[in-house]
This record gives sequence, structure tokens and C-alpha cells, in this order.
Amino acid sequence: MAGYIRLFPLQGEADGLIPRGTRAEVFQQIFDVFLVLGVLVGVVVIGYMVYTAYKYRDGNGSREFTPPTLGELPSGSEGGQKLAYSFSLSAIIVISLVLWTYGTLLYVEGDPAAENPDALEVEVVGSQFSWTFVYPNGHESDTLRVPQGKEVKLTVTSTDVFHTFGVPELRVKTDAIPGQQTDTWFIGDETGTYEARCFELCGAGHSYMTAEVVVMEPSEYQAWYANTSNSTSNATTSGNTTTNDSTTTTNNSTTTTATTTP
Ligand code: CUA
Repeated sequence: MAGYIRLFPLQGEADGLIPRGTRAEVFQQIFDVFLVLGVLVGVVVIGYMVYTAYKYRDGNGSREFTPPTLGELPSGSEGGQKLAYSFSLSAIIVISLVLWTYGTLLYVEGDPAAENPDALEVEVVGSQFSWTFVYPNGHESDTLRVPQGKEVKLTVTSTDVFHTFGVPELRVKTDAIPGQQTDTWFIGDETGTYEARCFELCGAGHSYMTAEVVVMEPSEYQAWYANTSNSTSNATTSGNTTTNDSTTTTNNSTTTTATTTP
């Protein structure tokens, strides 16, 4: 329940009114906004209903209410002004909600990782009935390991039938279709083990088509990843973003020491 409280101060940055952050944060924002507006509308409607029921209650024969006759136009409430106000207010609320949600979903369903050259790219291959994760250095694994706090771009495909790759806790879900690639992204902002599973009935083993997603401390991840590049014995693979990070930092320190010595 405490999660509901962190409402409008956005976790990530915001672009105008559109929330930014991890997928989990963005979907939480959408939920929070709908929850608050829903409660607000409910309170107003039920409150007004109770007030009207009380005001026009049947008590002691002192009723001021005269029922309208057939064909008579309502003369009270300033010629339907009340109706016009409530109608336009509802229209404004509904239309802005639709636009806001659409803008928010455009961000989530878009590809923010594409603009981030630092993002970790992992290929996800589904096949009856398991998932394989392919790292930039060619390392393959049935467990997806990612560093904490880093944008991870997933390119998802399948070798046989339609599957759907999803990690509910990280709010990730996209189809795995043979001969096609679908993209999605996520940020694991807390270390831990999450469960990835298949969300499209793909055969007898569908329910067992799961995989572990491990969000690791960045240093721990780097150490693990460096090991995998060694073990794949493919020295020519230099396209990995994560090890590049450490290489550039060491390069920097060597250049600074080199320039300061003479
Ligand atoms: Cu693969 Cu269900």
C-alpha cells in the first residue's frame, strides 16, 4: 500500500507531464493516476447521491418536491447549466486521461534504449520449451544476467512457434515470433532474481517454459561477464558495451598517468 503514496513526485525524470523511469515506475504511475481520479470521481458521485437522497428524503409530509408532468421542461438548475458543467468537466477529464495515457504508453512501448549507446543488448531466443539469452560477445545462457540500474534492450525471436517473453515483476512482455524480431527494454533497479516465463500457449511444455532473470551489482556483473568472454574463447569479440566501460576507464587512467609523468 505504501507504493500508492509516492504519487506525483516522479521516481524518474519527467518530460512535461509524461513520466519517465523504469517500466515498473511508469506503469505504477498510470495505476496511481487512475486510482486517484477514480476515487475522486467515486467520492463526488456517491457524495452527491447521498446528499440528494438526504435532501429529498420523505419526512413528516413537509416535502417541497413537485414531480414534473409529462412534456414539461426542467426549469430549475439555471436552464441545464449544471448539466453542461458536469458534462464538459467529464469530457475534459476523460480526454486528458486518454491523451496522457497514450503519451505514456508511447514512451514505454518505444525504444528509449536505442538512443542510449550505453544500453546492454541481449538477444532472447524462445524455443519449445526454453529461453536462450545471447550476449554481445556471443555467450549463450539459459539465465539472463543484467547489471542493476542499466538499460537492457532485448531483441526477441523464436526458432519454432509463437511464444511470448515476459517478466511480470519488471513489467516486460513481448512476442517471440519465428522469423521476426521484436524489441523491448527494461531497467532492473533492484538486485535479485526474477522469473521470466512464456505467456503464449505454445505446446505441452508451455507452463514449464521459464527462465531466471538475475539483476546483479554492476561490479559483480562485470566480473561475471569478463569471465564469459574468456570462456567463449572468441578473442575477436570486442562489441560488448559493458567491458568497454571498464576498458575506457583504465585507458583514461593510463593516459592521465602518461601525461603527468613527463
Ligand atoms: Cu512458449 Cu508458451
